[in-house]
Amino acid sequence: MNTRWRLFLSYVAVMVVLVAVLSFAVRGLAVRAVSNHMAGTMGMGGAGTMMGDVEGAVGAGVNEAILWGALAGVVAAAIASYLVSGWITRPLGRMAEVADRVAAGDFQQRVSHESGDEIGRFAAAFDNMAGQLQKTEEVRQELLGTISHEIRTPLATIEGYMQGLMDGVVAAEPKTYELVRREAARLGRLVTDIERLSRLEAGAETITPRKLAVAEAIETVVAPLRPQFAHSDLSLAVSCPDPCPDVWADPDKFAQILGNLLSNALRFTPAGGLVKVDVTLRGALVAFAVEDNGVGIPAEDLPHVFERFYRVDKSRSSSGGGSGIGLAVAKALAEQMGGSINVESLAGSYTRFTFLLPRA
Ligand SMILES: Nc1ncnc2c1ncn2[C@@H]1O[C@H](COP(=O)(O)OP(=O)(O)OP(=O)(O)O)[C@@H](O)[C@H]1O
Ligand SMILES: [Mg+2]
Repeated sequence: MNTRWRLFLSYVAVMVVLVAVLSFAVRGLAVRAVSNHMAGTMGMGGAGTMMGDVEGAVGAGVNEAILWGALAGVVAAAIASYLVSGWITRPLGRMAEVADRVAAGDFQQRVSHESGDEIGRFAAAFDNMAGQLQKTEEVRQELLGTISHEIRTPLATIEGYMQGLMDGVVAAEPKTYELVRREAARLGRLVTDIERLSRLEAGAETITPRKLAVAEAIETVVAPLRPQFAHSDLSLAVSCPDPCPDVWADPDKFAQILGNLLSNALRFTPAGGLVKVDVTLRGALVAFAVEDNGVGIPAEDLPHVFERFYRVDKSRSSSGGGSGIGLAVAKALAEQMGGSINVESLAGSYTRFTFLLPRA
């Protein structure tokens, strides 16, 4: 039995009870009222038989009136309740239909039932959910496209070199092998990055925050990078207020965030440049700014740099080995540790990434 019939029958049941009670009440009251009235007008003497007749006639008349009246009432109410129950259940039926289509992969479907009642709110929540599913599906599609594109490029290079070697058009020398090895390494790194990012986004990466002395934590990351900075002719300056504060963070994740920001600064700052790491206190948070005076990021790219696989200059970065995942990872890590990350930049002038972590 569907909801419409169930609602309809429940209305009918209520009506039947109402009509039954009404009939008995009207009948009893009407007969008593009529006989009282007649007794008053005719007086008490010798009118017993006549009273009995009138009482019988009135009773029968009232019965008939109740019967027809109730019948008409029930028919009218049945029609009304059938229409009203349809009005309530139609959007539910539509929702079931839309849910089926969404489940079948048609994410454009919406119920679009606008009313302020519970059903309207349910429909709005349903549409909202369908919207979220559509967005997730779009992200998934786009991600799959990007991943396959990212994988195809090094694969094509490897295949090209191999074919060239077989055809004898590419020289079988160490330089060639090194190129092939580099592309294979890039593929490996890409897979590791994707794996790491998906674990992170699924919340599978465990974060064990503890009290961390900022000065030492920074030095652990900076020390191994100093030779690379010197080699690229870049100055690296670290500053921290005295006393340098403690943060509440996972040491490995902290190192990953800072390490990625510094390796970006290293890659995107020409020789002779300056990279600064500045620590400042911001209430209950500690801010870490990594600033360079390198190539900068154009304003139109700025809102996208934290997106997975986003690179401002695809060709340059891919030859440099970056997959465009580092900042997405840094953002997810900072947020999982109760912090945040943001960027300011001016193309051709400077880039400053600032991440905030809770103070210990
Ligand atoms: N300091 C910077 N100066 C200029 N551009 C930057 C800087 N940091 C990041 N970018 C831009 O943002 C993009 C994304 O950075 P991200 O760290 O996410 O990826 P990547 O460094 O290219 O690759 P990965 O970190 O995964 O190896 C970079 O490709 C670059 O275009
Ligand atoms: Mg990077």
